[in-house]
Amino acid sequence: MSIRQQTDAFDQAPSTAGCRVPYRVFTDRQYYDREQENIFKGNCWSFVGLEAEVPQAGDFKSTFVGETPVILTRDSDGSLHVVVNRCAHRGALVCREMRGNRASLECVYHQWAYDLKGNLIGVPFRRGLKGQGGMPGDFDMSQHNLRQLRTETVGGLVFASFSETVESCRDFLGPIVVEQIERIMCKPITVLGDQRQRIRGNWKLYAENTRDPYHASLLHLFHNTFGLYRSTQTGEALMDANKRHSLLYSIAASNDDAADKQAYGDARTFDTEFKLQDMSLLKGRQEFADNVTLVILAVYPNLVLQQIQNTLAVRQTVTYGPDEFELVWTHFGYQDDDAEMQAIRLKQANLIGPAGLISMEDGEAVEIVQDAIVGEASATSYIAMGGGRAEDADHLVTEGAIIGFWDNYREMVGFDLEPA
Ligand code: FES
Ligand SMILES: [Fe+2]
Repeated sequence: MSIRQQTDAFDQAPSTAGCRVPYRVFTDRQYYDREQENIFKGNCWSFVGLEAEVPQAGDFKSTFVGETPVILTRDSDGSLHVVVNRCAHRGALVCREMRGNRASLECVYHQWAYDLKGNLIGVPFRRGLKGQGGMPGDFDMSQHNLRQLRTETVGGLVFASFSETVESCRDFLGPIVVEQIERIMCKPITVLGDQRQRIRGNWKLYAENTRDPYHASLLHLFHNTFGLYRSTQTGEALMDANKRHSLLYSIAASNDDAADKQAYGDARTFDTEFKLQDMSLLKGRQEFADNVTLVILAVYPNLVLQQIQNTLAVRQTVTYGPDEFELVWTHFGYQDDDAEMQAIRLKQANLIGPAGLISMEDGEAVEIVQDAIVGEASATSYIAMGGGRAEDADHLVTEGAIIGFWDNYREMVGFDLEPA
């Protein structure tokens, strides 16, 4: 039977399990606008940075929650704050640098000044000049602060929320996620640098991708060829109780080439004869006592925490409309890394990022979906590998965590918005 015939038969077969996602959720502005309100400004915690990115009093970093510009600051008392990066006067970006150190934040337009908590502390010509001009007599500075978000940290990761009612960040993440964050953030870290990748696709296609262990050994030639990740390895795909977040992990030492050759048959991405001219890229160190060599922790809605070999990184999603987002990768190591270990981490950073030997394909996979679904008002995807339900798996041949993501999305946004 040809692939085409198989597909036809599949389409006609009644299905009791499996998840169908209408492609319009990736292309239609209605969904995008509702996501900004109900997810990014709704009852969620969004990742905004690492504490280690703002280590000193006065340090700040500009970033985003969804599409909303925000500033992460460390105040003189050491406390962390996240405020909307939009002047209370006439709406200008207050902070135009990506990062820096300041005693206060000053808007360039008319120089309204704010302290590092976002409180308005200065308005030029507030009382006018020579008896002329000035703000009205009842102008109350305390009513014109930058909008302040709730801010909490877990294991050195900083999260912010617009919601006054959402549970604590720890409760939002749940024990599986918190435990994994604390496993990786087990000692003080050093930030090694950022990579930024603009992807012409919808941010949710990447949320699917990072909850998808099924693709990882089929799309990624490098994973399979060098045994960094194969579906035959010991691993699990787990979710938090609400099935918002996903933990995929695997142990590279758990399989052998001969058995894998049989399992993969003639899959395009299985060729163990392939060699690199410089194999030193693959010579890492065993770091964790549990032997786990790959962790992809996808945290709803905008974070991935990764450990691939000796690379450690956070990936933050910033949205730019229904068909574009940016991935910001921040690589880090530990403060007690020796020089060789730091060199290993930097070399292995070539595995990931926009030109990475592994993860360049994920950006491409997002874009080839986006290219193919444009204008499809009623067609859907079909997600059923592993049984078609949002269930944990003690193997890696599953799409269960993707269904968990969509169950939450359906609750927060819905699949059936009315077109404008
Ligand atoms: S817009 Fe910021 S001071 Fe006027
Ligand atoms: Fe991937």
